[in-house]
Amino acid sequence: MTLAIRRIAPDETAAVRALLIDSGLPVEDLSGAAIEFRIAVEDNGAMLGVVGIEVFDEAGLLRSLAVAPQARHRGIGHALAASLETDARARGLRQLVLLTQTAEAFFARRGYAVIDRAAAPAGIQRSAEFRSLCPASAVCMSLLLEPARFG
Ligand SMILES: CC(C)(COP(=O)(O)OP(=O)(O)OC[C@H]1O[C@@H](n2cnc3c(N)ncnc32)[C@H](O)[C@@H]1OP(=O)(O)O)[C@@H](O)C(=O)NCCC(=O)NCCS
Repeated sequence: MTLAIRRIAPDETAAVRALLIDSGLPVEDLSGAAIEFRIAVEDNGAMLGVVGIEVFDEAGLLRSLAVAPQARHRGIGHALAASLETDARARGLRQLVLLTQTAEAFFARRGYAVIDRAAAPAGIQRSAEFRSLCPASAVCMSLLLEPARFG
C-alpha cells in the first residue's frame, strides 16, 4: 500500500469533515473560512489524514491536523505536517502558528515553540479558531520559517 499526500478535490470535503469530527477537532467554521486542505490517501482511495492552513499575510494558521485513529503512529501525521511546512516555505510564509489541546509534544518535536497567544500575528488572532473555536486552555505554538533555498 502506498500513501500519497495531495490537495483535496472539491468533492472530498465531506470526508475531511468526518475525519475531523472523528478526531474531536472543530468543524463549525469550515465552510466560512478560506482553509486549504491537503490529505493523505492510500492507493485504495482511503483518506487516512488531513491538515489545513489558513493564510494571513506572511503567516499561516496550521489547523485541522488529524489522522484516522486506526492509522496513527505510522508517520502520517509527521508527513502531513512536513508537507504543509515545505509548501509554506515555498510560498514565502515567514511563520506558522497553531493552537492545540492534545498535540503539544508532537509539534515540539518538529521545532514549534510555545508562545503567548497575544504574541501571534494580528490576522491570525482574528481567525474564528482563535476567537471562539479553541478554548483559552489550548496551547499556542509557533514555527519561524527560513525562506526556501533554490539551486
Ligand atoms: C496528532 C496526530 C495528528 C498524530 O498523527 P500520527 O499519524 O499518529 O503521527 P505520526 O505517526 O507521524 O507520529 C506520532 C508518533 O508515532 C511515531 N511513529 C511514527 N511512525 C512510526 C512507526 N512506523 N512505528 C512506531 N512509531 C511511529 C512518531 O515518532 C511519533 O512520535 P512523536 O510524537 O514522539 O514524534 C494524531 O494523533 C491525531 O489525529 N490526534 C487527534 C487530533 C489532534 O489532536 N490534532 C492536533 C490538533 S492541531
